[in-house]
Amino acid sequence: MAKKITDNISWVGKVDWELKMFHGNELSTRRGSSYNSYLLRGAAKTVLIDTVWGPYDKEFVSRLKQEIDLSRIDAVVMQHNECDHSGALTELLREIPGTPVYCTAKGEAILRGHYHQDWNFVNVKTGDRLDLGGGESLTFIEAPMLHWPDTMFSYYDGCGGILFSNDGFGQHYASESLFNDEVPQAEMMREAEKYFANILGPFCPMVTRKVKEIVAMNLPLALICPSHGVIWRRDPSSIVDKYLEWADAYAENQVTIVYDTMWNSTRLMAEAIARGIRSAAPDITVKLFNAAKFDKNNILTEVFHSRALLLGSPTINNGYSYAIAGLLEMVRGLKLKKKTAGAFGSYGWSGEGVKLLCAHLAEAGFALADEGIRIQWVPDEAALAQCEDYGRTFAGKLQ
Ligand code: FEO
Repeated sequence: MAKKITDNISWVGKVDWELKMFHGNELSTRRGSSYNSYLLRGAAKTVLIDTVWGPYDKEFVSRLKQEIDLSRIDAVVMQHNECDHSGALTELLREIPGTPVYCTAKGEAILRGHYHQDWNFVNVKTGDRLDLGGGESLTFIEAPMLHWPDTMFSYYDGCGGILFSNDGFGQHYASESLFNDEVPQAEMMREAEKYFANILGPFCPMVTRKVKEIVAMNLPLALICPSHGVIWRRDPSSIVDKYLEWADAYAENQVTIVYDTMWNSTRLMAEAIARGIRSAAPDITVKLFNAAKFDKNNILTEVFHSRALLLGSPTINNGYSYAIAGLLEMVRGLKLKKKTAGAFGSYGWSGEGVKLLCAHLAEAGFALADEGIRIQWVPDEAALAQCEDYGRTFAGKLQ
């Protein structure tokens, strides 16, 4: 069912309460998501902004038909052409072939690469306008690498100013409510941060540049309408400020300890290190996660949120564990800045795990606090005291 946003704009997307994984299995979406599509009726032209994911294409087109005679859609604006937004385009354009598809040149290349169709593409650049009649227009703002090369935003100068921001400012957060002021704030912001950390995190310099550019335009802004999650209606500039904060080497006073364990020795080390940190610096929040048992993207969000990461693994086959290897690869991809790291782990004989973890944490851009700590076999009281000491020293280096 379409939902009214303003007198002339309706939400015509799809709320996906069932979605639990996104990007294949790369990203968990524990609170579902939505694929937001917007129907903007100008005085002279009606524009559809983005579509929905392929599995919902027929449902989307059928519901859209209940909202409008499709032949009255003058243009489709594709702000970003990943499948979750472009997936229903084939089904839609089968009904209204020849309708202009406004997108960046890179967007056209992606659409052609995905769907192999010779649609009526209209390439747009920053500053290009689509006249909607009545003195109103949609202005396009290219936003490359937020988070794909084709991404653009669209600014509508009616209704007090509306920024359609596609993935920017989004959250994988299913809600029957349309607006940020109608949902539990803490869970919404948790999802917004998880979304930023996992999707936009690798592109922080581009985020900073683009957000500052938009702020400098001094545009009136009544709403920010992303392509996932709720619309920013109450204080929309708050998420803009938050993006500037998150994109600037963000860190709360938190240490995240992520470990894997085979026979509990590395877990015992992790807990002892945590005690040490807390005893030396009670103001630091310390969180522990077993990488093999917890949601990897929630762990990544905690790492993003932290000033330091301690990574622990037993030595296995001259290396470290599968769960830690996977997590470390994901951490590397986030290109985190100005974070400290350390490593720890138990071992039986060869014991290379900690050294390798240190080397790979450094390669991932972390500042190593030290050479890490390793304990042979099962830690006894003396070894656990050593780990507590390690935690205290590590905390001292963060002061
Ligand atoms: Fe929501 Fe990059 O697609």
